[in-house]
Amino acid sequence: MNLVVCATAMVVLVCFASANAQTSSPTPAPAPAPDYVNLTALLSVAGPFHTFLNYLQSTKVIDTFQNQANNTEKGITLFVPKDEGFSSLKKPTSLSNLTQDQLKSLCLFHALPHYYSLSDFKNLSQNPIPTFAGGAYALNFTDNSGTVRIDSGWTRTKVISAVHATDPVAIYETDKVLLPEAIFGTDIPPTPAPAPAPEIAPSADTPAGSARESDSSSPTSAPSSSTRMILDLAILISAIVGGVLFFW
Ligand SMILES: *[C@@H]1O[C@H](CO)[C@@H](O)[C@H](O)[C@H]1NC(C)=O
Ligand SMILES: *[C@@H]1O[C@H](CO)[C@@H](O)[C@H](O)[C@H]1NC(C)=O
Ligand SMILES: *[C@@H]1O[C@H](CO)[C@@H](O)[C@H](O)[C@H]1NC(C)=O
Ligand SMILES: *[C@@H]1O[C@H](CO)[C@@H](O)[C@H](O)[C@H]1NC(C)=O
Ligand SMILES: *[C@@H]1O[C@H](CO)[C@@H](O)[C@H](O)[C@H]1NC(C)=O
Repeated sequence: MNLVVCATAMVVLVCFASANAQTSSPTPAPAPAPDYVNLTALLSVAGPFHTFLNYLQSTKVIDTFQNQANNTEKGITLFVPKDEGFSSLKKPTSLSNLTQDQLKSLCLFHALPHYYSLSDFKNLSQNPIPTFAGGAYALNFTDNSGTVRIDSGWTRTKVISAVHATDPVAIYETDKVLLPEAIFGTDIPPTPAPAPAPEIAPSADTPAGSARESDSSSPTSAPSSSTRMILDLAILISAIVGGVLFFW
């Protein structure tokens, strides 16, 4: 019975497809599209990643990345900051004074010359990983129960979402620009805001007393965690009220 339905559906589909093919072109059905990921196209529709894409294009780094995506077995992993990440950069780390070469290195710093799925980052947790910009430009990764955290010294951020993750191309969204010590130096200023009220549940991966816990570009981790607590409380209360009403 299912087979009959299936077969009928297939016949209809095939007829439809061939009718379509006949009207558009008489050549046989085209071979499946080659494995080509257009990085420019992907980055122009997602995000918004316009600022990063503009830098990739003005430095021609986009060609390096596209070439890696097109022509290598290893593939590529890209970390793309959203536009807000660039607009929120402040004085000591603004990009306006960088030379063209430094901008190029900064762009290359946002990619690894290898495809990594999110779960692969568990393996990368120990060592600094060299980026496309070379050995002096390395990133540290930690996997915190599924959340991939990225540390460049100047920037502590995490993967927010996967824009694309099919071998050989992985594109992960971050909310901050990755700033290399090789450009901005190792003299990283401590966070301006004093340490806020103790956290309720300190996560295991953040060593106590780390000055860079919330990095300089966004000192907002305390408000957001207390907001989250209030939210949790509200959810708890409404759950209790809901439960009481249910048993009324
Ligand atoms: C890739 O996408 C961009 C933007 O959509 C487009 O201009 C370009 O022609 C595409 N490249 C290829 C090779 O299809
Ligand atoms: C990547 O492949 C596409 C499609 O084959 C091609 O149009 C494009 O020029 C290639 N780009 C690079 C940098 O290799
Ligand atoms: C950029 O360069 C100008 C002039 O050399 C200097 O006054 C300014 O402080 C620099 N800005 C940054 C962010 O380094
Ligand atoms: C990560 O480790 C697992 C098991 O330890 C292994 O199967 C997997 O291939 C590793 N991935 C990478 C990218 O090395
Ligand atoms: C990266 O990890 C290495 C080894 O654990 C450590 O020595 C280094 O300070 C870390 N770098 C940053 C920027 O966290």
